[in-house]
Amino acid sequence: MTEVSSAAARPPITVETLRTSPLIQQFITTTNEFLGVLGRIQHDAGHAELVARLSYEILEKLGHPQRECELAAIAGYLHDLGNLVNRASHGFSGALLAYQILRDLGMEPKEYAQVMAAIGNHEENTGGNPVNSITAAVILADKSNVHRSRVRKCDLAAFTTRDRVNYAAEDSELEVRPDEKLIAIRIKIDCQICSVVDYFEIYMVKMMLCRKAAQFLGCQFELWINDSKLL
Ligand SMILES: [Fe+2]
Ligand SMILES: [Fe+2]
Repeated sequence: MTEVSSAAARPPITVETLRTSPLIQQFITTTNEFLGVLGRIQHDAGHAELVARLSYEILEKLGHPQRECELAAIAGYLHDLGNLVNRASHGFSGALLAYQILRDLGMEPKEYAQVMAAIGNHEENTGGNPVNSITAAVILADKSNVHRSRVRKCDLAAFTTRDRVNYAAEDSELEVRPDEKLIAIRIKIDCQICSVVDYFEIYMVKMMLCRKAAQFLGCQFELWINDSKLL
């Protein structure tokens, strides 16, 4: 029996498969512990779950096939796993980890190839680009998750720029309006902590990638901070 035919005989891999995998759950927990040692913001199961759900919803609302939505959710769930190896280039290492994990679980090569591309392309600082719809959805879902609850530090003096931006964010929302072909990220920030202009400067490269991702999906992109439309 070939590898492909044995994979085809199994039920399709879903996000639920990942939730019930002790290996994946251990990797997510350990990844977040290591990032905590470095003082980085939370990349816990909550972040994985949220990015998975939003990635699914983006494609679902835009009318993509159900299996493609599920693959986006899988890529969203696993997108930050490469931080286990090293924060630097974690998209690349995460794609290779996903290859091994999803192959071992019995996913078909044509599916894990899509997921690998999405994970390897989700970061703006390592040449990330929306190479398929799954990638575009993961980029938008991931970059919209800016929130105070992700900051671990208590001492404001020790905040990095990214800590400050996240700490300032009291609420964030991703909106998909299929009829208008529009995807918007709306963020409410506390301007005592970070000004709207500061936020825009700091996150401009991420938001440019979001605009590319929305365009890949045939949509316009808008960024709203408080009541100001910045993009
Ligand atoms: Fe990431
Ligand atoms: Fe992330």
